[in-house]
Amino acid sequence: MAEISWELFERQVESCAMCPLHNGIHHKVPGQGDRTAPLMLIGEGPGEREDLEGLAFVGAAGQLLTRMLAAIGLPRDRVYICNIVKCRPPFNRNPEPEEMAACMLHLRMQVALVRPRVIVLLGGTAAKATLDPNLHITRARGQWTERKGIWMMPTYHPSFLLRDESRKREAWEDMQSLKRKLTELGLYPDLYGGETP
Ligand code: URA
Repeated sequence: MAEISWELFERQVESCAMCPLHNGIHHKVPGQGDRTAPLMLIGEGPGEREDLEGLAFVGAAGQLLTRMLAAIGLPRDRVYICNIVKCRPPFNRNPEPEEMAACMLHLRMQVALVRPRVIVLLGGTAAKATLDPNLHITRARGQWTERKGIWMMPTYHPSFLLRDESRKREAWEDMQSLKRKLTELGLYPDLYGGETP
């Protein structure tokens, strides 16, 4: 593989036309946050606000996500946040498998650049795209899998939690499990207290 860099990543995303999703969007939404963070969060795809601002998780779901992180002592600016697809699917429909497959090139480069120790997959779409296309989020949530030295855990998507408050207890358990995993890895309470990732 040619040498990768953030500059290459940004150029690659900006010029990407590998699937039809780039048609009619306002902004690509590559992701943002601490590019050296040991914790990466991956959602599904940009919504309306994200498309307008070019930033991931800035709408209502993003505000809930910020509160969920804060509840376990993680300031949002110390994690890296992105999505499976970098362009907003029309009318917030789920991204198609071919669209996710096309965008995976960008996500792989992002993971290689950030080199997180832990990845939290927000929602069934992100978990299926990265772990197992047959997975059921209600069964898979809270379960840890190690892939190439990275610990990965699916949890509910914050948009789902906004629609179904009864799932918040399970999401809270998942956040506690995340805290335990970060502690085990020497990354908590100070995310940067352990070894440099
Ligand atoms: N939902 C997502 O999956 N990602 C965002 O960036 C916003 C809402």
